[in-house]
Amino acid sequence: MLDKLKEIEQNARKALHQISDVDELNDFKVKLLGRKGEITLLLRGLKELSAEQRAEVGKVANQLKGDLENLITSRAEEIKQRELDLRLAKEAIDVTLPGQPILSGGKHPLSLVLEEMIDIFTGMGFAVAEGPEVETDYYNFEALNIPKNHPARDMQDSFYISEEVLLRTHTSPVQVRTMEKLAPQVPVKIIVPGRVYRKDDDATHSPMFNQIEGLLIDRNVTFANLKGTLMLFAQRIFGEDVRVRYRPSFFPFTEPSAEMDVSCVMCKGSGCRVCSNTGWLEVLGGGMVHPRVLEHGGYNPEEVTGFAFGIGIERITMLKYGINDLRLFFGNDKRFLKQF
Ligand code: DAH
Repeated sequence: MLDKLKEIEQNARKALHQISDVDELNDFKVKLLGRKGEITLLLRGLKELSAEQRAEVGKVANQLKGDLENLITSRAEEIKQRELDLRLAKEAIDVTLPGQPILSGGKHPLSLVLEEMIDIFTGMGFAVAEGPEVETDYYNFEALNIPKNHPARDMQDSFYISEEVLLRTHTSPVQVRTMEKLAPQVPVKIIVPGRVYRKDDDATHSPMFNQIEGLLIDRNVTFANLKGTLMLFAQRIFGEDVRVRYRPSFFPFTEPSAEMDVSCVMCKGSGCRVCSNTGWLEVLGGGMVHPRVLEHGGYNPEEVTGFAFGIGIERITMLKYGINDLRLFFGNDKRFLKQF
């Protein structure tokens, strides 16, 4: 029996070295030391031995069981350690690899130009006012001297929500809204940035676009004040050497009305594709606030005068950056957006 125990021990020691995972090790332990394990079965034969032999074999067997248990425990630890080492080796971080740059977002070109324009005008003392994008017929048209059935309504193909409510076609309605709040105080000196909507959709028109409205009302405001303000704006946004010119125009809410051109930002006025060889680019409309609009706003046109202007932000941005398709602004294409 002692020989048999020795043999079991030798085999077990050998086998243990071959075992390389925890499950296998558990099975091995059960087979050897479990209730139906090899040693347990062998020791059943103890009762056939004499008391003296029994004591001796029992002692050796207990010793062996203890030894084997220790061996199995330390083997288990070895296996676990090996697995950990392997995992660490696989997941190791190579600190010499170049880092992955964290991409940070940037501002949309329209936001950049809008912010620049707001800076320019607030620098001249204009305050920023806002109004609703869903507007009534009254503020969008009537109060601006565009009565129902007036042909000027055709210039602005509109999105109607009901007969009296529409998406505003321009930022001009905020003129009268602001006047109503302030009248009869002067000066009124505001710009109105915001989204506007028209049924238009091609390379130079979008159903939604952005404008900045300007309005100055005070005593003795003249067309010269309008020219001075817009000249300064043109120089700030396009550069000191830009030239401007005014062409007579028509808007129902200004009298007289004009459109302002700037010398072509691409060819500096010598003529190119962008300016259709004219050397000039149309950038905005403006004029002296019509007396009827002043009245609608609560001002007496005998006491105060004013000028107003409207600028398309997309148009200025396209000219400033040489962008030839308006739809790029709204396509969300990163290849376009990351250039700004
Ligand atoms: N509201 C006009 C438009 O969207 C632009 C405009 C022209 C605004 C002349 C003005 C102005 O304030 O005086 O076409």
